Amino acid sequence: MKRVMNVSRARSLRGTLRVPGDKSASHRALMLSSLASGESRIEGLSPGLDVAATARIMGQLGATCSLESDRAIVVGRSGGLRPSDEPLYCANSGTTMRLLAGLVSAIAGVHVLDGDESLSQRPMDRVAQPLKMMGSFVTGRGPRVMAPLRIEGSSSLRAIEYHVPMSSAQVKSAVLLAGLGASGPTTVIEDVRTRSTTEDMLSAANVRIDSVDEGNGRRVTVHPGRPTARHWAVPGDPSQAAFFVVLGLIHPDAVVEVQDLDGSPERTGFMTVLQRMGADLSWSGPGPTLSVVASSSTLTSTEVFADEVPSVDEVPVLVVAAAAARGVSSFHRMGELRLKESDRFAGALALASSLGCRVWSEGDDFFIEGLGSAEAFAPFSMDAALDHRMVMSGAVAGCAGAGATIEGAETVRTSYPHFFDDLVGLS
Ligand code: S3P
Repeated sequence: MKRVMNVSRARSLRGTLRVPGDKSASHRALMLSSLASGESRIEGLSPGLDVAATARIMGQLGATCSLESDRAIVVGRSGGLRPSDEPLYCANSGTTMRLLAGLVSAIAGVHVLDGDESLSQRPMDRVAQPLKMMGSFVTGRGPRVMAPLRIEGSSSLRAIEYHVPMSSAQVKSAVLLAGLGASGPTTVIEDVRTRSTTEDMLSAANVRIDSVDEGNGRRVTVHPGRPTARHWAVPGDPSQAAFFVVLGLIHPDAVVEVQDLDGSPERTGFMTVLQRMGADLSWSGPGPTLSVVASSSTLTSTEVFADEVPSVDEVPVLVVAAAAARGVSSFHRMGELRLKESDRFAGALALASSLGCRVWSEGDDFFIEGLGSAEAFAPFSMDAALDHRMVMSGAVAGCAGAGATIEGAETVRTSYPHFFDDLVGLS
């Protein structure tokens, strides 16, 4: 049943918080530990349903995963993972389905991958295409190859060189994971550097990876092999921190600190955008993890390009920042937003419009005329459409502005079950 959440304007916001463990690293820690032989320990695991789906599936494939709070002990299967008789239910999680498609492609046998209503509308052709080139047989519904997927994996995949046609860490990762079981080195070329979580973690698990930056992009080669078991410490998720950072900036009386975040450059582009808008934002570093402090700021409009925030996860909340800024902000090459848990291109425009902004779009670009301050936001209601990031973006707008009614708010459970508790804790 859909839960309706009423968010009201907070008088002031103060506090320090830790957001959930990075979702990307959590999925990969479970997958690599399951592929390894022996016991791995993970701490800082994301508590969301997306990551729980990955853990459950790794169990179906023969690993033993014991989860307790944000810790896990994973024991891989000594003879390697094997197919499950039951469908592998990926719930709402695109990362689970796309990475898993690569992982099971290297396991001989038939695998069925299923998902919820939102995931079943998302294109899987982007992973099916390279995996077929490697010799895995992937079928799904319609020309965009939508779930449920049927994958016939093979223990003798071909090594390929693949140029990813869109900016996608999930596609890169699917090919790299399949490459673990290929006949030779597999190379992925991307035109824009997306998060390097997969290659970094494979390398940390003693798989040979060669990674070279080329212009704005990168060429990554994985050599066939099996990850080794190890201890993983997952840092905080910068894409979740983005909600509290924007909240701290646009609320008229706020100082909010978020600690212990993954500080890699592909994940922190949203902070550069906000700084350009005049944000009072400071962060510690350089170092492997960051602490960020966001204080009430007067923001001005800016131009945002998708390449600055690869994977565009932070764009919906940047739209809320643009709605509070002075002037017209433009967002360019944002087509990928349409293919997320919901159509975030339409959803972000609808959100800004319901706050009272004039909005318009041209092809894959859109424009938001800001109101100059969150104090000018109108109260609004929205339906979250099974999209956690839309719920959290709406909640930020409501908390800094004039309140919000959010239908389907329970969908935050997919990535950030205690989001509303953390929000209340700041006021
Ligand atoms: C993710 C990649 C991104 C992002 C998602 C997590 C990952 O998708 O949207 O939330 O963990 O690899 P892309 O494949 O569009 O980069």
